[in-house]
Amino acid sequence: MRKYIIGGPVTLNGSVSVSGGKNAAVAIIPATVLVKGKCIIENVPDISDVKLLMTILRRLGAKVEYLSRTTVQIDCTEVSTYVADFEEVRRMRASYYFIGALLGRFGKAQVGLPGGCDFGVRPIDQHIKGFKALGAEVDIEHGVVVASAKELTGASVYPDIVSVGTTINIMLAAVRAKGKTVIENAAKEPHIVDVANFLNAMGADIKGAGTDVIRIEGTDELTGGRYEIIPDQIEAGTYMVAAAAAGGRVEIHNIIPKHMESISAKLSETGAKIEIFDDYVIVSREPGTSLNKVNVKTLPYPGFPTDMQPQMSTLLTLAKGTSIVTEGIYDHRFKYVDELRRMGAHMEVDGKVCVIEGVDKLMGAAVRACDLRAGVSLIVAAICAEGVTEISGVELIERGYEDIIQKFHDLGAEIKVIDDGPDTAAENEKKIG
Ligand code: EPU
Repeated sequence: MRKYIIGGPVTLNGSVSVSGGKNAAVAIIPATVLVKGKCIIENVPDISDVKLLMTILRRLGAKVEYLSRTTVQIDCTEVSTYVADFEEVRRMRASYYFIGALLGRFGKAQVGLPGGCDFGVRPIDQHIKGFKALGAEVDIEHGVVVASAKELTGASVYPDIVSVGTTINIMLAAVRAKGKTVIENAAKEPHIVDVANFLNAMGADIKGAGTDVIRIEGTDELTGGRYEIIPDQIEAGTYMVAAAAAGGRVEIHNIIPKHMESISAKLSETGAKIEIFDDYVIVSREPGTSLNKVNVKTLPYPGFPTDMQPQMSTLLTLAKGTSIVTEGIYDHRFKYVDELRRMGAHMEVDGKVCVIEGVDKLMGAAVRACDLRAGVSLIVAAICAEGVTEISGVELIERGYEDIIQKFHDLGAEIKVIDDGPDTAAENEKKIG
């Protein structure tokens, strides 16, 4: 079993460069199915979720060629099937983007229902509502989403909730539909804007991404081009929180400061020093100075991101006083709390609220990552904790963080990977998404 072994406590110092955005990449890669021509995509993160999507694309008949570690040329001209029902599809959440992309390209799609991190029920009813509004018939047959339309036609869509996946999936289906689609109550996350910019660079006509009304004028063909993915907001935020929690001084390069505002604001409240520059941020805290308690509620962008909730809660285990963290997006995103308790954290969960009583120190322990962000939070905890922490389930962390060991190592963390033989990794692999 592969494990991370981390010694602590250490302070973090130095600089780290943020990779391309995972949640932008995992939408842009399926979106290439809509394009007849070559898409050259730069700043593609080298993470296992992306590798899985490339496998799915190849299985659909796309030509995928890496021009460098993070630049890939994808040509979907020869893709001739609308059926994506194989194991890789079921292993990740973002594979649902193949529904919108295949529907947009062929007017038909058959895609296995997605897997993904387990935060409670994660339905795709709003995606389906959107496809239906565009004229598709959609059914779920034996675990496969079966969608087809005589002709996709632009329409006005009003999702019941603000949903990232729904907004992107409707955009994908609508770019080649006949006429105009208007998505109201749209999500505004940076990766929504990035997917729209990518599609526009390939020839689409999308306006308003980043606001809550997106207007899409259907176009006959998308023909290819070059595009660079934005930096990963959550990866950047993770290193910011790690620096604030451990103490020290860390420069985080290749960021878009605007995307970091809610995270920077909360970290400032904790007492960490945040200095923002054009494309980097410095986070520092004198070791020995204490962290202030803060209350956090996760919300759709521009609110505090749910994907930073476990990292922030981890930091607050070491703050002075009682902090209250409220999860505003998912029903069950506090499963990792049991692991932090093993390390000495005082946390009580009641539904979507976690009450955190700050402690003076965490202690190393054997813990297990239960999902991507929970897993990375255990790394943050381990760096701050006294003694040795052994983290298993690390495949889940590598779904979304490029070179995480090297990056933390370069900041001074005592972190290494061991493989102690046959394992449950295969089991974890099945759960990835
Ligand atoms: N929801 C529905 N019905 C739907 C769609 C969503 O009820 O049809 C609910 C969800 O269950 C959830 C809420 O709406 O309670 C918001 O979900 P959303 O659709 O916004 O999330 P998602 O598209 O499934 C993406 C990211 C997640 C991130 C969320 C929120 C990808 C592949 N995943 O998920 O990322 O937490 O947006 O920002 O982009 C992660 O990176 O660790 C991660 C989990």
